[in-house]
Amino acid sequence: MNNIIFLRNKIISFFYLHFLKPVFFRSDPEDVHDRMTKMGVFLGKYRIAKKIVNCLFGFRHPILEQTVQGIRFENPIGLAAGFDKDAQLTDILPSVGFGFAELGSITGDVCQGNKRPRLWRLLKSQSLVVYYGLKNQGAKIISEKLKNKKFKIPIGISIAKTNSPETCQLDNGINDYAFAFESFINIGDYITINISCPNAFGGEPFTHPERLEKLLERLDCIEYSKPVFIKLAASLSNQELDDILDVAARHRVHGFVCTNLAKDRNNAMVKEKLKDDSIPSKGGISGKVVQNLSDNTIERVYRKTRGAYTIIGVGGIFSAEDAYKKIKSGASLLQLITGMIFQGPQVVSEINRGLVRLLKQDGYSSIAEAVGVDVKLD
Ligand SMILES: Cc1cc2nc3c(=O)[nH]c(=O)nc-3n(C[C@H](O)[C@H](O)[C@H](O)COP(=O)(O)O)c2cc1C
Repeated sequence: MNNIIFLRNKIISFFYLHFLKPVFFRSDPEDVHDRMTKMGVFLGKYRIAKKIVNCLFGFRHPILEQTVQGIRFENPIGLAAGFDKDAQLTDILPSVGFGFAELGSITGDVCQGNKRPRLWRLLKSQSLVVYYGLKNQGAKIISEKLKNKKFKIPIGISIAKTNSPETCQLDNGINDYAFAFESFINIGDYITINISCPNAFGGEPFTHPERLEKLLERLDCIEYSKPVFIKLAASLSNQELDDILDVAARHRVHGFVCTNLAKDRNNAMVKEKLKDDSIPSKGGISGKVVQNLSDNTIERVYRKTRGAYTIIGVGGIFSAEDAYKKIKSGASLLQLITGMIFQGPQVVSEINRGLVRLLKQDGYSSIAEAVGVDVKLD
């Protein structure tokens, strides 16, 4: 069976890299994303289509199964926030092989996002420049749509502050988050508070400890029995990160998603000249450019908190080795977007297959045994 899946993945990968990707990468990335979303919605409607997609992309192995924060995960690879902004793909994602998915980010109000174009590819850097600005249909519409839905995999809801000048005022910003939070208390398996979107009005005010304290105080008042995560920025200084950890320790926070997009254009992993007019100076960078920043953040959070929090590692995962590094640095769960765009959707099962091999090679019988093994605790 293992050989058949290996062969299947090789064939799909060849097809994606040599036929589909060259066509996709000639069009505007947002147009391609919209077309793929439409196709995903269509396939998700039919049981037979889901079965076929599952035959092409599915992979299961008991070593990958785990219960984290009381939630059962069939495998550790999730879809990161930002791909399914309006929660349209929940029917098809399990068949693509994802172990879980984070929807959104969803804001208090409907939000058109920034003006197009707002997504660019950096081919040499294997990254995307993202300047969406939290485009989404808003908490009211999306929660209505999801309220009676049954999900086949764990679902996280990423909430953020509406991208508008009004929410830059502290109380308005907090109320906006609170409205989004309240809208989803009965939907999905966990909520992530995204305080690190680099593309919205007023920057990232809630990475500041005093404002974060106020935000979490308000959200603590909302009755909610499921886990709450905070999504961290990629380029926090050690002091900023430690301050956030101190604040989080006083509130209802069960874990951290590490990390959001990179902001620094002088990052050594950026191989293109970004001064070029075709790519503006705005926007955060995903993929290989953010990988080391994310790995370092995971390691620091794990070390500083001595593994007390659940860490979801995200940023530049293209292979099982990338995923395993994040696990050994302290992540129990992982997410990706850019790896799938550059390598094809079979990458999810390739990574899961590779993780089984790497875990067995090191003598582990579960992911939990490998979490944080590379981190020296003080
Ligand atoms: C097109 C795109 C849109 C994104 N939008 C969001 C978002 O709305 N909320 C969020 O928390 N992160 C968002 N992100 C960041 C991703 O969730 C992830 O943290 C980052 O891309 C690193 O993972 P990757 O290298 O696997 O893409 C977005 C990323 C991409 C590529």
